[in-house]
Amino acid sequence: MLLTTLALVATATPFVAGSVAPLRRRSNRQSNPAPMTATGNAVVFDVEVQFGDQPFLLLVDTGSSDTWVVKTDFQCVNATDNSDLPQEQCLFGPTYDVPSDMQYVKNQTFGVQYGTGIAVGKVGYENITIGGITVPNQKVGIVDRSTDKGDGINSGILGLGYPPLTSAHYGSTLDNSSLLLNRAIYDPTFVSMYKNDLVDSWYSMAIERLPQNVSTGPGGWLGLGELPPVAHSNDWAIAPIEVTKGLPDVYTGGIDQITLMTLSVDSITWGSRSKTSSRTTNSTSFQAVVDSGNQMNMVPQEVADEINAQFDPPAVYNEEAGIYVVDCNAKSPALGIEIDGHTFWHQSADMIIQDASTGFCYSSLNSPAVGSGVTLQFLGDAFLKNVVSVFDFGKDEMRFAARTGGNGTTGGKGNGTSSGNGNDDDKTPVSSDGHALATGLWSIASLALLTQAAAALL
Ligand SMILES: *[C@@H]1O[C@H](CO)[C@@H](O)[C@H](O)[C@H]1NC(C)=O
Ligand SMILES: *[C@@H]1O[C@H](CO)[C@@H](O)[C@H](O)[C@H]1NC(C)=O
Ligand SMILES: *[C@@H]1O[C@H](CO)[C@@H](O)[C@H](O)[C@H]1NC(C)=O
Ligand SMILES: *[C@@H]1O[C@H](CO)[C@@H](O)[C@H](O)[C@H]1NC(C)=O
Ligand SMILES: *[C@@H]1O[C@H](CO)[C@@H](O)[C@H](O)[C@H]1NC(C)=O
Ligand SMILES: *[C@@H]1O[C@H](CO)[C@@H](O)[C@H](O)[C@H]1NC(C)=O
Ligand SMILES: *[C@@H]1O[C@H](CO)[C@@H](O)[C@H](O)[C@H]1NC(C)=O
Ligand SMILES: *[C@@H]1O[C@H](CO)[C@@H](O)[C@H](O)[C@H]1NC(C)=O
Repeated sequence: MLLTTLALVATATPFVAGSVAPLRRRSNRQSNPAPMTATGNAVVFDVEVQFGDQPFLLLVDTGSSDTWVVKTDFQCVNATDNSDLPQEQCLFGPTYDVPSDMQYVKNQTFGVQYGTGIAVGKVGYENITIGGITVPNQKVGIVDRSTDKGDGINSGILGLGYPPLTSAHYGSTLDNSSLLLNRAIYDPTFVSMYKNDLVDSWYSMAIERLPQNVSTGPGGWLGLGELPPVAHSNDWAIAPIEVTKGLPDVYTGGIDQITLMTLSVDSITWGSRSKTSSRTTNSTSFQAVVDSGNQMNMVPQEVADEINAQFDPPAVYNEEAGIYVVDCNAKSPALGIEIDGHTFWHQSADMIIQDASTGFCYSSLNSPAVGSGVTLQFLGDAFLKNVVSVFDFGKDEMRFAARTGGNGTTGGKGNGTSSGNGNDDDKTPVSSDGHALATGLWSIASLALLTQAAAALL
């Protein structure tokens, strides 16, 4: 959740809405595992979610908990001066026609805050279908005003987290400057799904890379009580979901409870891809939030600095943007993240992200998110592309198995098994337009927005 909009901002590509086949009222049967669509050079992952009989793509976010969609006449709002903007500026896909017999939750409002924007509206009941499985009368956000943006095809967010982060609010009026307060906690869509015995109490994910210069394509699978149909090791790392340390009371209600998909990383190893003897391991354990709505891994500052210095040429921290900018053709260091005694090696393809709208490149490894006195580390899409992941509410644990072979919707090269050694070849799959950096792209809008996002994380 916290960084969802970082992903969105980085991919604020003006996709031509008309080039995307309309999804409205398709009668295709959905399947489980549900296929996802990757956008923005595979930094956003969307899945089809039906509200009643209206299908939409929603951003799949393990880091937030609300399911919401923009309604037909929603107002796109300029976050800076609160002026009205044309709907297209919000880059959402199809909008939701509120049924005439819509039941709203009485005396509540909906209002969720992400890094760069907010989405506000009403809390309604809808029959929500994902992967062909219908949750009856689920509480959802029906958004009528948004400063948050889509990716050109999605129409909202599917938050797959725990109840304490849900964003309904008591009362009939909403102060949008304090959306973290006064929250009326409810069961999110997936929680309702398993509590209704419609599926086992876990979901899984396998997300895919996209080929060079392809911004949108098949993005992998979301499995509801099912594993995705991709090859993986059978040696699973098991990580208990932990109480996130240091979160403000507004998130936790002042009690020790699980809020985010947080685990402990035991160590990080980095260095030469070809010479395993030239690698360094830092075994200082730290907590990290597993967040499919964040394209980057965000690790302790010292480690982020050291690893980014090992790109060739080095990735350089940009204060304004809050990211390490790197040449698109840089050679990336090996990176292994250890969880439960298993080291998950990252393919070089996942070490550099190319911004889909501007073409500039940045390291997928960043320093922590800092805001309101809270420091948070993340394992984002860069990590998730290398594993099959399971999020288990029954056991309050996450499980990860390394991807093997090349199967999946677009395939991946190399091995990356936990027994592998991280030395896949050094080619980066990003475009050779790596000189954009030198040409003073600092002032471009998306960088400015990234800065705002970093400044307003919580
Ligand atoms: C939003 O408002 C600011 C301040 O008035 C303005 O500079 C900016 O151009 C506006 N953005 C859009 C997309 O209109
Ligand atoms: C959900 O579906 C059931 C059965 O079709 C229907 O009775 C109910 O009204 C629906 N709920 C909503 C909120 O549309
Ligand atoms: C947030 O509240 C301010 C002040 O009431 C209002 O001007 C603004 O439009 C609101 N923003 C959204 C997105 O509704
Ligand atoms: C609506 O909610 C507010 C805040 O919880 C409460 O003070 C008020 O009494 C409620 N009104 C009704 C009609 O339930
Ligand atoms: C290891 O990482 C921690 C942060 O997690 C840092 O404080 C420490 O300095 C690092 N150790 C070395 C030897 O770099
Ligand atoms: C990969 O996919 C192909 C075609 O779908 C299939 O024939 C093959 O068995 C799969 N291999 C693995 C390792 O899953
Ligand atoms: C890939 O991993 C498997 C299983 O660990 C191993 O047997 C195989 O040799 C590896 N292949 C490469 C190319 O590293
Ligand atoms: C990707 O785009 C760049 C810049 O247009 C081009 O130089 C490169 O050859 C393209 N790569 C592929 C695989 O199409």
